Amino acid sequence: MAESFVLNTGARIPSVGLGTWQIEPEAVCSAVYAAVKAGYRHIDSAVAYRNQKEVGLALKKLFEDGVVKREELFITSKLWPGNHAPEDVEEDICSALEDLQLDYVDLYLIHGPIRIKKGTMFIPENLMRTDIPATWGAMEKLYDSGKARAIGVSNFSCKKVEDLLAIARVPPAVNQVECHSVWQQAKLRKLCQSTGIHLSAYSPLGSPGSPGYCGPSVLSNPIVISLAKKLQKTPAQVALRWGLQMGQSVIPKSANETRIKENFDIFEWFIPEDLMPEFNGIKQVRLLKAEFVVHPQSGYNSLEDLWDGEVEQEAGRAECEEYSDFLRCFSSAVET
Ligand SMILES: NC(=O)c1ccc[n+]([C@@H]2O[C@H](COP(=O)([O-])OP(=O)(O)OC[C@H]3O[C@@H](n4cnc5c(N)ncnc54)[C@H](OP(=O)(O)O)[C@@H]3O)[C@@H](O)[C@H]2O)c1
Repeated sequence: MAESFVLNTGARIPSVGLGTWQIEPEAVCSAVYAAVKAGYRHIDSAVAYRNQKEVGLALKKLFEDGVVKREELFITSKLWPGNHAPEDVEEDICSALEDLQLDYVDLYLIHGPIRIKKGTMFIPENLMRTDIPATWGAMEKLYDSGKARAIGVSNFSCKKVEDLLAIARVPPAVNQVECHSVWQQAKLRKLCQSTGIHLSAYSPLGSPGSPGYCGPSVLSNPIVISLAKKLQKTPAQVALRWGLQMGQSVIPKSANETRIKENFDIFEWFIPEDLMPEFNGIKQVRLLKAEFVVHPQSGYNSLEDLWDGEVEQEAGRAECEEYSDFLRCFSSAVET
């Protein structure tokens, strides 16, 4: 299995990256350092994760210690939802670059088809309608300037990808979306493959225990567990290896050095082709539905509207109660 995938820019994205959401600022430096020492060359960050400065400190130390050179790493960051206005996009990346202590990022993503008023907290009352064509025009300028060596989107449905492709001068290189064996994104993967967009899988372990995630567990799924037993691997390794074999990069988060290493030990073996169809038997549920975005000000009147129909819910499941926690762990670094 390739250790990287080629983007439509010609650059390569390493197939396993370290996710950094919900790693405490004081822990993220050692997690990033340990990951790169273990062989990771891809780090997924965002200002919304409230630890981007500390990710930058880790990168600086890695370069100073001679562990790795800048050009060997693939660093992703994301546009803050309050900075969608075209005139704010360049300042947004400049601030991310300052945090990361870098001259460029390898990938800059529109974090989602979700916008809030500039300078406000990420709460439903501050939502507003997106204007993706205008924001994308400013993202294209970042690509032209070299500050972002690739640009892309996150949390875009098939329809939103198609709408973007219809107006883009620079097509998105990546769509980073929730993807794991419990939400496999078959339709979106097919569209991305046919349009040259790389699908990058966030929450590839199903984000166990995270606020805002509701539904069945990936790591305790009986099919995943039985394959792990058969292959003498852990459920996490099977979940991640499934992603690689489906042609997507995976960005598992861990703050624990043993699990960071475990999650990278997925190259020297594979899930036999005849066992892959077993994943087809897993009931599909989107775990991060983002109900809080359904609001008169966002222009999304329902989850169907937000995800353009690409949402399956557990029958009878009520709205997730943990959204206030989700919003809390996503926003306070950029409140003004
Ligand atoms: N673009 C977006 O909107 C978006 C949304 C969500 C996530 N992301 C990105 O994707 C990354 C990954 O997603 P995620 O953080 O939601 O979830 P995830 O990677 O699916 O799961 C992370 C959780 O799994 C645990 N874990 C890690 N390795 C494990 C292993 N080998 N065995 C058992 N448990 C393990 C972690 O705990 P420990 O830390 O204790 O190991 C943590 O609780 C994020 O960190 C972020 O960078 C992007």
